[in-house]
Amino acid sequence: MCLARRGWRRQGFRLLERSSLLWKLMAVIFAALLFCEFSIYYLVIFRCHWPEVAPPAHSGEQAPVLRAMVLADTHLLGEVQGHWLDKLRREWQMERAFQTALWVLQPEVIFILGDIFDEGKWSSPQAWADDLGRFQKMFRHPSHMQLKVVAGNHDIGFHYWMSSYTVQRFEKAFSAERLFSQKGVNFVMVNSVAMEGDSCSICAVAEAELLEISRLLNCSREVRGSGPCGAGQRLPPSAPVLLQHYPLYRASDANCSGPDAAPPEERSIPFKERYDALSQEASQKLLWWFRPRLVLSGHTHSACEVLHSGRIRELSVPSFSWRNRNNPSFVMASLTSHDYALSKCFLPQEDTVLATYCGVAGLLAAFGLAHAGRWALPFLSGWTALRTHRAR
Ligand SMILES: *[C@@H]1O[C@H](CO)[C@@H](O)[C@H](O)[C@H]1NC(C)=O
Ligand SMILES: *[C@@H]1O[C@H](CO)[C@@H](O)[C@H](O)[C@H]1NC(C)=O
Ligand SMILES: [Zn+2]
Repeated sequence: MCLARRGWRRQGFRLLERSSLLWKLMAVIFAALLFCEFSIYYLVIFRCHWPEVAPPAHSGEQAPVLRAMVLADTHLLGEVQGHWLDKLRREWQMERAFQTALWVLQPEVIFILGDIFDEGKWSSPQAWADDLGRFQKMFRHPSHMQLKVVAGNHDIGFHYWMSSYTVQRFEKAFSAERLFSQKGVNFVMVNSVAMEGDSCSICAVAEAELLEISRLLNCSREVRGSGPCGAGQRLPPSAPVLLQHYPLYRASDANCSGPDAAPPEERSIPFKERYDALSQEASQKLLWWFRPRLVLSGHTHSACEVLHSGRIRELSVPSFSWRNRNNPSFVMASLTSHDYALSKCFLPQEDTVLATYCGVAGLLAAFGLAHAGRWALPFLSGWTALRTHRAR
């Protein structure tokens, strides 16, 4: 009896030991998930800071600073080409990155430079509604932050795909606003897909709108009463920032550099006008009409910095999705009416996350093997004992 009880106790211990081990394993898995899917975004984004605008040269008042976050090419997958797991993973990553960035950095305005959806160009009304619903959940934001969006070729279709139906449904979901001013800073949001210059009806309307904005901006820079602008309400007298999906024309990415420029073997591939970048005429037109101080564009999924006519700076904003690159990022801009400063905030790298998971999986496997050996030992010794009995 005494022996039996001791046996029970031993078995109980072993069970307890095994279940506490299970708990430990589960805790390790939970910690890895928590780190890779949640905390890492805070750790990485906490290192980003708003750039400082240089103080005014003469001892004047510092103009108010507008803090804008700019991202591009989120490519929310659609129902035709998107695999559900890919969708789930990418959207979770972007949602966490975006929500963490809002919480940590508190931008006043957020711009998304097109290709929000992957299949907006052909999605059915139901698929569109579904994609839009997911977008609104992922990119939810408090009402004191404004979210502004420009259209990309995947949202409304390349030039000859684009129809007034896709354009209208995009503008109904977001906005048809082309001009946005805050704290003395003017932004022009160009539908660059409609800048083909072939006077198709959508293009003609888009150009007419831009010309009207050009006129308003010209008036704001003109001395009052000296021209045909009248004395009405005026925009702040400040050169605008252009926001668009396609980059202005450049021959290729050959002069781009940095950790998130296009891979070296792709940089020298010539850009096709109207496909990789705007045509030379359209680019020239935009530069003439607006005389911008800064151009921000998307579409290439890689970073680049270009100077047009030797002085107008354009930044290609890389894709925000891990599907398109290992090191996504967004641009942080501090703008005043006469100056600006830019910096880039990198998100966690996908490699780091995968390496963490592999490391944890390897550890667990090693641990499991070691313990499997220990649990197997009593059985093995029993088996040997039996065999020696039999042999005898
Ligand atoms: C605004 O001014 C620029 C530069 O002088 C000019 O090229 C452009 O045509 C003007 N815009 C309009 C609508 O006249
Ligand atoms: C690269 O920069 C050089 C020097 O500014 C210029 O001559 C050349 O056209 C640029 N190449 C491309 C592809 O933009
Ligand atoms: Zn894209």
